[in-house]
Amino acid sequence: MRKQLVCFFTAFTFLVLLNGGTARDLRNVTEPKTPETCTTLKPSVKDETKNIQKALDTCSKGKAVALSSGIFYSGPLSIPSGVSLLVEKNATLAAFPTPELYDRGANTCGTIDDIGEGCKPFITISGANGSGIYGKGVINGLGGTKMTGRNISWWRLAREATKVHKLQNNPKLIRIENSTDITLYQITLRDSPFYHVESFLTFGFTVWGITIIAPANALNNDGIDPTGSMNVTIAHCNISTGDDNIAISALYAPARHISVTNNYLSHGNSMGIGAGAIYGVSEVTVTNLTLNNIRHGLYIATSTLNGGLVTNITYNNVCIKNSKWPINLDTNYYHQKGNYTPQFTNIAFNNIRVVTNGTFLIHGVSKSVPITASFNNVHISKGSVWTVRNAVVKGTWEEDADGNSCGIAGNV
Ligand SMILES: *[C@@H]1O[C@H](CO)[C@@H](O)[C@H](O)[C@H]1NC(C)=O
Ligand SMILES: *[C@@H]1O[C@H](CO)[C@@H](O)[C@H](O)[C@H]1NC(C)=O
Ligand SMILES: *[C@@H]1O[C@H](CO)[C@@H](O)[C@H](O)[C@H]1NC(C)=O
Ligand SMILES: *[C@@H]1O[C@H](CO)[C@@H](O)[C@H](O)[C@H]1NC(C)=O
Ligand SMILES: *[C@@H]1O[C@H](CO)[C@@H](O)[C@H](O)[C@H]1NC(C)=O
Ligand SMILES: *[C@@H]1O[C@H](CO)[C@@H](O)[C@H](O)[C@H]1NC(C)=O
Ligand SMILES: *[C@@H]1O[C@H](CO)[C@@H](O)[C@H](O)[C@H]1NC(C)=O
Ligand SMILES: *[C@@H]1O[C@H](CO)[C@@H](O)[C@H](O)[C@H]1NC(C)=O
Ligand SMILES: *[C@@H]1O[C@H](CO)[C@@H](O)[C@H](O)[C@H]1NC(C)=O
Ligand SMILES: *[C@@H]1O[C@H](CO)[C@@H](O)[C@H](O)[C@H]1NC(C)=O
Repeated sequence: MRKQLVCFFTAFTFLVLLNGGTARDLRNVTEPKTPETCTTLKPSVKDETKNIQKALDTCSKGKAVALSSGIFYSGPLSIPSGVSLLVEKNATLAAFPTPELYDRGANTCGTIDDIGEGCKPFITISGANGSGIYGKGVINGLGGTKMTGRNISWWRLAREATKVHKLQNNPKLIRIENSTDITLYQITLRDSPFYHVESFLTFGFTVWGITIIAPANALNNDGIDPTGSMNVTIAHCNISTGDDNIAISALYAPARHISVTNNYLSHGNSMGIGAGAIYGVSEVTVTNLTLNNIRHGLYIATSTLNGGLVTNITYNNVCIKNSKWPINLDTNYYHQKGNYTPQFTNIAFNNIRVVTNGTFLIHGVSKSVPITASFNNVHISKGSVWTVRNAVVKGTWEEDADGNSCGIAGNV
C-alpha cells in the first residue's frame, strides 16, 4: 500500500503554514470563570420544574441559579439570555423520564415513527447571548430508566426503532440554538435519552472541562454535536458514549472555526465530522487527543445524500488505541444516495500514533473529486490494513508504533 503514496513534505509544510492561522476558533479562549449566583435552590418538592424555571427567569443577567446538594427532578427547562445554571458538586439535576412533558404537541414523544422530532430537549438555550451551564454536579438524562407508566426506557425505545428501521422520539439533553457566547464548564452530563449536547447556529461556544458518560451500547447518545456553528472550542473534556463522542456537521448552515483541544474520548463511535455537510465544514483543528476503544477514530463521513466540502481539517498529536477504523475518510456513508458531492480536501494528519492494528480507509467519491490528505509523522501498528481509492495522499506512515497504551489528551 505504501508504494501508492508519494512524499511531498515541502509542499505539505507550506500548506500547514498557510493554514496555521485561521483553522481554529478565532476567539482567544481561556478557562471560563463560574458566574456569581443570584439564588441558591435546595430540592424541596417532587417536581422542581417550576421552581428552577422561575429562578432562571428572574435571575439578573450575568448571574447563575445554583442548585445545591441533592437530587432535583425536573421536566424541560429553558435558560434565558445572559443567565446561567450552576449545578453544584453534590447536586444532580435529573430529567423526569415522562414523555408527555417533552411532547411538542403531536403526542409522538416516547414513540417510534419516521420523523423522530417529537420531543423538546430537556434543557434549551435559544436566542441567548452569554448563557451557560456550570458546576461540578451532574445532569442526568435517565436514558436507561423506564419511562413513567411504561415498561420501556428511552434507550430501549431507540433499539426497538432500529429493529423496524424507524426513528425514536427521545429528548436531547441540551440543545443550544441561535445563540452567541455560550459556555459549558466542568459539568458532568450522563445517560442522555438522545444526544447530550447539540449546538445549532451558535457563534461563540466554549465547552471546557466537562465529562460525558453513557453506556457504550446506548444508541444515538452522541457527546457533543456542533452543527452549523462557528467559533467553537471543546477543551479538556472526557467523553465516553455509545455513539459519536464529538460530531461536527453542516446540514443547514456552515460549521467553521472549531478547535478541539486536549480531550480524552473513550468507547463511542468517533471524533467525527460529517453525516450532513451540505453547507461545508472547514477550519477545524483537533490537537492533543486520545481515542480509546472507539469504533471509527478520526472519522469524516458523508455521502451524496447530504455531502459537501469538508476542507482545512488538521489533526495534531493524536493517540489511538483499540479502534477498528482508526482513520476513516468515507464518502459513501451508509451507501446513502443523492445529488450532493462529498469532497474532502486538505485533511492533515500530524504526529499520529495508532498503537493497535486496524483498518485505515480513505475513499474519495470519484477520480475527478479525490480526497486530498497529508501524513506527517504518522506511526501505526503492524498488521493494519489500508484501503485507499480516489485519493491523493502526501507523505507516508511507519508501521512501528510500539507499546499499546495511550495516556490522556494525546500523550503516549
Ligand atoms: C482553506 O485554507 C486555504 C488556505 O489557507 C484558504 O485559502 C481557503 O479559503 C480555506 N477554505 C475555506 C473553506 O475556508
Ligand atoms: C488573540 O491574541 C492575539 C495575540 O495576543 C492577538 O493578536 C489577537 O488580536 C487576539 N484575537 C482576538 C480575536 O482577540
Ligand atoms: C469569530 O470570532 C472572531 C474573533 O472574535 C470574530 O471576529 C468573528 O466575527 C467570529 N465569527 C462569528 C461567526 O461569530
Ligand atoms: C450530598 O448529598 C446527599 C444527599 O443527596 C447528602 O446526604 C450529603 O450529606 C451531601 N453531602 C454534602 C457534602 O453536601
Ligand atoms: C434568534 O434570536 C434573536 C435574539 O437573539 C431573536 O430576536 C430571533 O427571533 C431568533 N431567531 C430565531 C429564528 O429563533
Ligand atoms: C452579548 O453581550 C455582550 C455583553 O455581555 C455584548 O458586548 C455583545 O454585543 C452581545 N452580543 C450580541 C450578539 O448580542
Ligand atoms: C416488561 O418488559 C420485560 C422485558 O423487557 C418483560 O420481561 C416483562 O414481562 C414486562 N413487564 C410487563 C408488566 O409488561
Ligand atoms: C474520564 O471519566 C471517567 C468517569 O468519570 C473516569 O473514570 C476517568 O478516569 C476519566 N478519564 C480521564 C482521562 O480523565
Ligand atoms: C498540547 O499538549 C502539549 C504537551 O502537553 C502542550 O505543550 C500544548 O500546549 C498543547 N496544545 C494545545 C493547543 O493546547
Ligand atoms: C490485529 O491485532 C489483533 C489483536 O492483537 C490480532 O488478533 C490480529 O491478528 C491482528 N491482525 C493482524 C492482521 O495482524
